[in-house]
Amino acid sequence: MPAAAVGRLRRLIRLRRLSPVEQPLPESATAVAIIMDGNGRWATRRGLPRVAGHRAGVEAVRHIVERAPDAGICRLTLYAFSSDNWNRPATEVESIFWLMRAYLRMETKKLKQQGVKLQVIGRRDRLPKTLLRAIERAEFATSDGQRLHLRVALDYSSRDAIARAFSNVANANTLNAAQSPDLLRSAVANALTADGNVDLLIRTGGEKRLSDFLLWESAYAELLFTDRMWPDFGAADLEAAIGEFGRRQRRFGGLPATAPVSAAPSLRGAQ
Ligand code: FPP
Repeated sequence: MPAAAVGRLRRLIRLRRLSPVEQPLPESATAVAIIMDGNGRWATRRGLPRVAGHRAGVEAVRHIVERAPDAGICRLTLYAFSSDNWNRPATEVESIFWLMRAYLRMETKKLKQQGVKLQVIGRRDRLPKTLLRAIERAEFATSDGQRLHLRVALDYSSRDAIARAFSNVANANTLNAAQSPDLLRSAVANALTADGNVDLLIRTGGEKRLSDFLLWESAYAELLFTDRMWPDFGAADLEAAIGEFGRRQRRFGGLPATAPVSAAPSLRGAQ
């Protein structure tokens, strides 16, 4: 076999060995959610129209998605359009949807190669048909991705999602909520999302609020707020955020592993 062909074959074998789709992340990987705020201010400060900020925001999405698996992230949920964002001017809403559709059309192949499984959460009945079709195509094409579960929240409201989950559970009529709050709680959690808990929630853009994003799933999330505008949020910021998360002590209402176990209070001698 000619040397060039041998080289090509070796490269192919190397590539195949490194195929990201075949390297699922460990269970211990982190579930991160991001409220991507600050696109508009980023643009305005540069004397640009707001849509330029959203366009730059899509670039930031590209970089962060590419970096996420190596940063130890197994699930990344991005808040792209809240149900309250319908209150924005129609032209801005249309441009966000247009950018979203362009992103899906242009990135699906790469997402698949990177081992990303894409899923859109939120209401679908109010989205434009062309966007809906692009979403369905991208979800289907990336359905076997194992390296990163990328969830994009579109026309999303956490209160709405929780209300719908309750309604689904009630309609399924499988339990009597009044008799079994514990069962209700786990049924709602399952109806909401089977594996959606958030470990770390990041909000860019300087505001410190949750804005109706993943309220149930973030019950024990570590919160991290940064003044960085979303288009400026890069791989180094993501790694710093994961580093900060690693230094937080998560107790889930318990005690730190090193805390001395205090003796039960004695009633003897109590007045
Ligand atoms: C918040 O900034 C950002 C949005 C409402 C839109 C986010 C959308 C994208 C980044 C594009 C599509 C997403 C994907 C996943 C491809 P803002 O407009 O509220 O900023 P401001 O607070 O400075 O006005």
